Amino acid sequence: MSRNADLQRRRDAAVARGVGHASQRYAARATNSEIWDVEGRRYIDFAGGIGVLNTGHRHPQVQAAIQKQLDAFVHSCFQVMPYEPYIELAEQLNARAPIAGAAKSLFVSTGAEAVENAVKIARAYTGRPGVIAFSGGFHGRTMMALALTGKVAPYKIGFGPFPAEVHHARFPHSWRGVGVDDALDDIERLFKHDIEPARVAAFVIEPVQGEGGFTVAPPEFLRALRALCDEHGILLIADEVQSGFARTGKLFAMEHYDVRADLITVAKSIGGGLPLAGVIGRAEVMDAPNVGGLGGTYGGNPVACAAALAVLQVIDNEDLLTRATRIGERVRALVGELQSEPRLGIGEIRGLGAMIAFALKVPGSVNTPDPDAAKALAARAAEMGLILLTCGVHSNAIRVLVPLTVEDKILDEGLGIMADALRAVRS
Ligand SMILES: Cc1ncc(COP(=O)(O)O)c(C=O)c1O
Repeated sequence: MSRNADLQRRRDAAVARGVGHASQRYAARATNSEIWDVEGRRYIDFAGGIGVLNTGHRHPQVQAAIQKQLDAFVHSCFQVMPYEPYIELAEQLNARAPIAGAAKSLFVSTGAEAVENAVKIARAYTGRPGVIAFSGGFHGRTMMALALTGKVAPYKIGFGPFPAEVHHARFPHSWRGVGVDDALDDIERLFKHDIEPARVAAFVIEPVQGEGGFTVAPPEFLRALRALCDEHGILLIADEVQSGFARTGKLFAMEHYDVRADLITVAKSIGGGLPLAGVIGRAEVMDAPNVGGLGGTYGGNPVACAAALAVLQVIDNEDLLTRATRIGERVRALVGELQSEPRLGIGEIRGLGAMIAFALKVPGSVNTPDPDAAKALAARAAEMGLILLTCGVHSNAIRVLVPLTVEDKILDEGLGIMADALRAVRS
């Protein structure tokens, strides 16, 4: 039995079924945008551990910062004996996040936890219970994050009841026939039929939906949400867990917009591979919860904070914002070429900067989602040495989350494999 097969057998016996896998190849080591399995097979990594590795696997500067902190101390708990890396990271993010006026931060360990805390903070500040989220959104796997998530299968099945006072409106997506006016109509309907605006604490929205398929919120929609927030005293929470940290060509995707969120959730690439997440927000809002109301044993672990400080330096030193834009252009150009071959069945290409996804449709159809083709493409690409992830409300999109530190040669090699794998799937 091969080493991968043996590990899969042990995994099946020892690990809960509910944890899904994109592949049955087991990781052994990785460098920048390449990863090797336990049998020595090399893969180009277009997944980055689901958008966690914008600065690549084991960036030397991030590794050095981690090592330095490991040599000092690994854990004290910020609530027991606080430490400087947490404060320095908060200072840097407060200065750089697109928040109007003075900002403050809180650190936790996962994206879902960041979302939970953003809702807690919004409720404490407004004294209101309601939260409005959007179809296709994904906010994590804890109970409130799941309640906010706008996709039932596979995330929500069997786990209800979810926390109350969570409502959904449609996320605008012109390709699917949902305009900005339709989404705003949904909100007006909620205000009329389900919850009055005076009981709504916050809207929670991803400026670019991640799991939902890299659908970009139209600027006029975020402007309209901001206007509703200002009119009714509602807070705007931008979930930037997947869109953050240079992925879209800006440090935060919200910088592409001329509106400001009150709170921003961050995670994934902020920690360069270590579990770190946070909420950054208007100081007055962030200070609403009582002392002791926020925190957690591991939140803002010193090693993870040290890694995050190094990640910010790498983004600056290597100009990863410009690099993200260039990578995005390259991916878009290649996928655009493939789109002109009708038999390949590429539908919409969407995203911002290097956060690019393309939908697969049944060839010859106007826009019938083809999730089987997306699954087959990811499987075929893995056989050919490329790790790809699917996404989308209909699970029919392929997303590219390659490290922004990828060398041109490897990016082109990966794109070549992606094209060959798609041609093979459609032959
Ligand atoms: C936008 C968004 N929010 C929240 C989460 C949840 O993050 P985590 O898996 O770290 O809990 C994710 C994870 O994919 C995400 O993409």
